[in-house]
Amino acid sequence: MENKGFLREFIENNITRRLIPKGLSWFGCMGGLSLLAFIIQLSTGIFLMFYFIPTTKDALTSIQYVSHSVPYGWLIQRIHAIGPHMMIAMVLSHMLRILFRGIYRHPRELHWISGACLLILTFLMYYTGSKLSVHNGNEHFTVHLIYFYALHVIGIPLAVAFSMGMHFFMVRKTGIYEPL
Ligand code: HEM
Repeated sequence: MENKGFLREFIENNITRRLIPKGLSWFGCMGGLSLLAFIIQLSTGIFLMFYFIPTTKDALTSIQYVSHSVPYGWLIQRIHAIGPHMMIAMVLSHMLRILFRGIYRHPRELHWISGACLLILTFLMYYTGSKLSVHNGNEHFTVHLIYFYALHVIGIPLAVAFSMGMHFFMVRKTGIYEPL
């Protein structure tokens, strides 16, 4: 009973009692949508990790197995491959809005710096992921593939977690420019 009260209060305070400003444009939603895109990439990526084998010999077969033999595997694989293009478009729109409206100015310098790190890391995720792609897989030695795979699933995600933690901590600290 006490738990239910806590959960209800948490949801009301953080979601249902928060109002959306009248004039909120699509551009104003791009930060949140970038986060949603990242969560989709993370969950579909974890799913693919169960099947992907990062060797020159098996990379293609393992992806073919996911696409043809695992239930809904084709859908998850396609989402993980198309998602980054949408995510990059969203992150760039988010950044351009902040740039053109001058929101990066004091006291939001650290939001901007952690955001810039997130932009670079998003591109690095895209680059290392495209190196694992079955279309490029055969051009590489296994050792290269394992190197890109380790960066894609461990190295860069750790840096993303750190930068995102800082980004959201700073947003929480100052509140957003146009409060909801
Ligand atoms: C994975 C990439 C990113 C995610 C998930 C993300 C997410 C968010 C979210 C959810 C907010 C709060 C709501 C909003 O104002 O939209 C925000 C605010 C902010 N972001 Fe990002 N962001 C990312 C990349 C960037 C980039 C590339 C920049 C700039 C270089 C940036 C700069 C800022 C700034 C300055 C704010 C504060 C805006 C305000 O106070 O209204 N972010 N971000």
